[in-house]
Amino acid sequence: MALDSAAIRRQFPCLQARERLTYLDSAASAQKPESVLQTMDAFARREYASVHRGLYPLSEGATDAYEQARETVRAFIGAEHRDEIIFTKSTTESLNLLAKSWGHATLKKGDAVALTLLEHHSNIVPWLQLKEEKGIEMVWIDIDDEGRLKQDELTRALKKGNVKLVSVTGLSNVLGVRPPVKDMIAAAHQSGALVAVDAAQLVGHHPISVRELDCDFLAFSGHKPYGPTGIGVLYAKRSLLRAMPPFLGGGMMIREVHRDGFTPADAPQKFEAGTPPITEAIGLKAALEWLGSIGWKDIETYEAKLMETAYETLKSIPGLHILGHKDPAGVSGCVSFVLEGIHPHDLTDLLGQEEFCLRAGHHCTQTLHERLGITASTRLSIGLYNTEEEIRALGLAVTRAIKVLAT
Ligand SMILES: Cc1ncc(COP(=O)(O)O)c(C=O)c1O
Repeated sequence: MALDSAAIRRQFPCLQARERLTYLDSAASAQKPESVLQTMDAFARREYASVHRGLYPLSEGATDAYEQARETVRAFIGAEHRDEIIFTKSTTESLNLLAKSWGHATLKKGDAVALTLLEHHSNIVPWLQLKEEKGIEMVWIDIDDEGRLKQDELTRALKKGNVKLVSVTGLSNVLGVRPPVKDMIAAAHQSGALVAVDAAQLVGHHPISVRELDCDFLAFSGHKPYGPTGIGVLYAKRSLLRAMPPFLGGGMMIREVHRDGFTPADAPQKFEAGTPPITEAIGLKAALEWLGSIGWKDIETYEAKLMETAYETLKSIPGLHILGHKDPAGVSGCVSFVLEGIHPHDLTDLLGQEEFCLRAGHHCTQTLHERLGITASTRLSIGLYNTEEEIRALGLAVTRAIKVLAT
């Protein structure tokens, strides 16, 4: 059965409360459905306690709920073991954990990390920090003008033999393109390199199976797939986690602490120092269950239709240039564009006054914008609550804005 977008929209209190709002900024952060908000509220009101240490029933119940959330994440991304799922604060924290634990312990001067020009700053800066600290090299894999990865550049880089990690976005937060991650993983593994996937955008738009991909690491945040902020995930293969040193030190991550040293706990606790985001983990579970209740087939079909409408609408506006793919096939989640002679901030500001919520700027991808020869763009990004009518209305609002701004 096709997805009932009106029924979905009714599940989002923020959109119900603000009838005129057209929310087209889900790539930054998605709105939350009632089921997520209610689950978190009920837990916080009646079932909340700290986890893992309490010997009383309330804490045992909270611990069970927290660990069930881990199990839900495991199943959602098709991981083999529950202890391969580390709860963090966000994708940003997950990628920092990867760089500061695995990267710091493993990489030496002259080793290289390969990144694509599509990457978000949170998959760039931690590696630049390691470059400064340890003298590692960074290899950049270029894209063509439509945002497709130049795979021959990856092949050449891997042949050099010093690439130890390829860290790649699963879905660009600007161009909406998906690098051929599965092929990249197979190629990297043949050369002895590991692969990390930044799934911050991918996770809310397409199914993921880390086992099928055979990726070594995968990171995402809870707030993009309709869950709360303050919770993120790092998946890593069990064998890698065993060898990785802790990232943060403190309570919960130790087996023993003495005056002259400590021994860390096993994963996942080794990487979850301090009191974790308990209510948020439970909210993430509710969000992934909510997505699961809709089903990927319907989600992908519906969102592909929205992207088709977005392309059709934007392409019909004179002076508007879509970045990346010239047609919507293979683009998901978002599309970015520039207008001749009009700054994205001015456009987005004016659209905001009409309650169209879009994003303007470099979207934390300055290297990509440099590659495209621009400093900023406007991004339209979709969620399951959006409709074709909203996107067409945005097209009319852009045309009105051009008339105002071009004079
Ligand atoms: C591709 C990508 N990676 C990483 C991030 C960082 O996510 P967070 O801010 O939740 O850590 C984002 C956020 O927009 C993103 O789009």
